Amino acid sequence: MQLLQAFIALLVLFRSSASGVVVPRQSEITEDSYFYGQSPPVYPTPEMPGSGPWAVAYAKAVALVSQMTLEEKANVTVGHSTSTGCSGVTGSVPRLGWPGLCLSDAGNGLRATDLVNGWPSGIHVGASWNRDLAYQRALHMGGEFKTKGVNVALGPVIGPLGRVAKAGRNWEGISNDPYLGGELVYQTVLGIQTAGVITSVKHYIGNEQETNRNPSSNVSAVSSNIDDKTIHETYLWPFASAVHAGAGCVMCSYNRVNNSYSCQNSKLLNGLLKTELGFEGWVTSDWDAQHTGLSSTLAGLDVAMPNSSFWGTNGENLTLSVTNGSVPESRVTDMVTRIVASWYQMGQDTNFPVEGIGMPANYYDPHVTINARDPSSKPVLIDGAMEGHVLVKNTNNALPLNSPKMISIFGYDAQAPPANDIESASQVFGAWTVGGESILDYAGFFSPLPPPQIAINGTIISGGNGANSPAYISAPFDALNEQAYNDGTAIFWDFTSQDPTVDTSTDACLVFINAFATEGYDRVGLHDDYSDNLIENVAASCSNTIVVIHNAGPRLVDQWIENPNITAVIFAHLPGQDSGRALVQLLYGYESFSGKLPYTVAKNESDYINAGNPSEPEGIYELFPQSDFTEGVYIDYKGFDQNDITPRYEFGFGLTYTTFAYSDLDISLSPSVSTSCLPPSPENIIQGGIASLWDVVATVTAVVQNTGEVDASEIAQLYIGIPGGPVRQLRGFEKVLIEAGTSVTVSFDLLRRDLSEWDTGAQSWVLQQGQYGVWVGASSRILPLSGTLVIS
Ligand code: NOJ
Repeated sequence: MQLLQAFIALLVLFRSSASGVVVPRQSEITEDSYFYGQSPPVYPTPEMPGSGPWAVAYAKAVALVSQMTLEEKANVTVGHSTSTGCSGVTGSVPRLGWPGLCLSDAGNGLRATDLVNGWPSGIHVGASWNRDLAYQRALHMGGEFKTKGVNVALGPVIGPLGRVAKAGRNWEGISNDPYLGGELVYQTVLGIQTAGVITSVKHYIGNEQETNRNPSSNVSAVSSNIDDKTIHETYLWPFASAVHAGAGCVMCSYNRVNNSYSCQNSKLLNGLLKTELGFEGWVTSDWDAQHTGLSSTLAGLDVAMPNSSFWGTNGENLTLSVTNGSVPESRVTDMVTRIVASWYQMGQDTNFPVEGIGMPANYYDPHVTINARDPSSKPVLIDGAMEGHVLVKNTNNALPLNSPKMISIFGYDAQAPPANDIESASQVFGAWTVGGESILDYAGFFSPLPPPQIAINGTIISGGNGANSPAYISAPFDALNEQAYNDGTAIFWDFTSQDPTVDTSTDACLVFINAFATEGYDRVGLHDDYSDNLIENVAASCSNTIVVIHNAGPRLVDQWIENPNITAVIFAHLPGQDSGRALVQLLYGYESFSGKLPYTVAKNESDYINAGNPSEPEGIYELFPQSDFTEGVYIDYKGFDQNDITPRYEFGFGLTYTTFAYSDLDISLSPSVSTSCLPPSPENIIQGGIASLWDVVATVTAVVQNTGEVDASEIAQLYIGIPGGPVRQLRGFEKVLIEAGTSVTVSFDLLRRDLSEWDTGAQSWVLQQGQYGVWVGASSRILPLSGTLVIS
């Protein structure tokens, strides 16, 4: 009995994370530094390496910056007030002809101006699993930023990664699998920067919830407490991919990490980013995320946006910190060298439009005639819109539709919203307030928030805030009308009733709902009663009910998914301005569905172990909110696998109009693979990390046959079980168009990085000795081929 009591007492005293980190008992916590996570000091800031592909730009930057005075350099590092509508502008040095930089949002299209396209959102790119399309989208989108005189695109987003199912910005990110996110952010950085625009990859790092993302009154911002192994294998991974692609800028986030604000966290900036990842670019703060002067300077922050009360309006306090001996001038020189080098690296020294020329100062008086829309973007917009739709249920041959005699269209999400605002965020906000309340009865909706779960006044093509003003919206209803005209189909519609009348002659009922999310707020739920009831009401009198969900994050469907009258369900995500047009192509079978889920859809909210909800300030943590990432690397499908929880739809799942068969798995390991990998050091680091991490150490191939009657793309997926790690981790995918009746061989190169674990003792990536599981198939749970790979 005494033993048992002692054991229980020990449990009370210690919490231990998945990776074995033991934290102090709560009663010992009397100040910040005793909390779960502590961030070690790493000083000084490494100077820009200026190596490899950056050597030329670096040399030019050194030559220019060497002519600047200390005051001029300090002035470059701070955001200034601007007569443009750029989200922020750096200082300039007119004496030397250096114009400064215009930075503007966001990752899904250029915000706060007109005559630009509304692109598919990050989550939609993730659902498409298409590297080439991700590159093309980025290239075309980047071109629009350039035409408008924007030097730095404030995106792409890979943080949040999606740890918290309800997090408000998951839709801006690509996937909560770091490998999938990493592959597609790599292409996105390449594409935007090939267009001549610097990417600001954000939000670095652990920005996994909106709740308490910023400090308010005497409550500090939430601290994402992440152990060393988890940060490397999960949250840093896609940033490493972005840096490997040559990202010129990284934005540090609002939150704290291991109890130190991200923008003054020397471990994150000096250590992980500028040492381990060999980052050549500069770090900008998120807007108002700088909280100190000296600490942020020495921790590796290079630019403070949109201004700096710490470094001074024109950087005068930063100058003072050098003249009084607190900061070496070389630190300030390095800040500016990094900034100016990225400008040269993207070719912005020649033929770049005047900074901010296409950005109106006032959103609502936007008459700026610079048209950034290039007709060659059209196929990329429509393909991008189509490929992110994921079909998860299709019974009774509900789809494709075939010249139906009559269809019925229901739901608030079918038609275009009532106004196209210059900033579509406001358009969606408008949608909440016009009529939303009376239908949804959101008591106290305006004050206090949170926002509702759905945007009731029209279809959504993006989430809120990190969105832009699309050139037009092809709403589902518009596109279905057009198709009905071609087919001679009659349409019956009702967008407002929650219990609409169903005409019994109808061939199919299409119900359009959404799941809205926006920056600044986490979602209050993963499904809403209003939409669920609408669907159930329609299905009660329509035996062919097809549900289309525009979802800004995972959306649960278990309230009605097993209803036999619900014959098809589509996660339509956030397709951008070609939404309806793309949907009709798919619904009518002109194109086959080809998207797969970039996240897991659970049966119940509680199945998202540990991380369904954002962390709140509570108990002794009231003033210093703590978010302990105790699940370690086991987020999303890795957590479902580990805990043996059956999801409703697993990560990587998606149907199409044909079937595929997998065969002929072949695994070959390169001869003489050694398990040792030198710890990161200046000699073996290229941008992204240790150079040898990108060596191909094994290759897996398989044959995929289209066994049906329709041409379609398959996303073949490779999962690896690293000894000691999660059951399976995505480590390869190939999206291939396979004609009906034919086969293709898919091939996956495995890099050293893909097969390694972060060894906290060695402080390096290490291949594991032993047997690795290898699986190839159609999703994280449909894995017809399996084998092993042995590293000795
Ligand atoms: C805050 C957001 O977190 C960030 O994503 C954005 O780029 C800046 N505001 C600038 O608007």
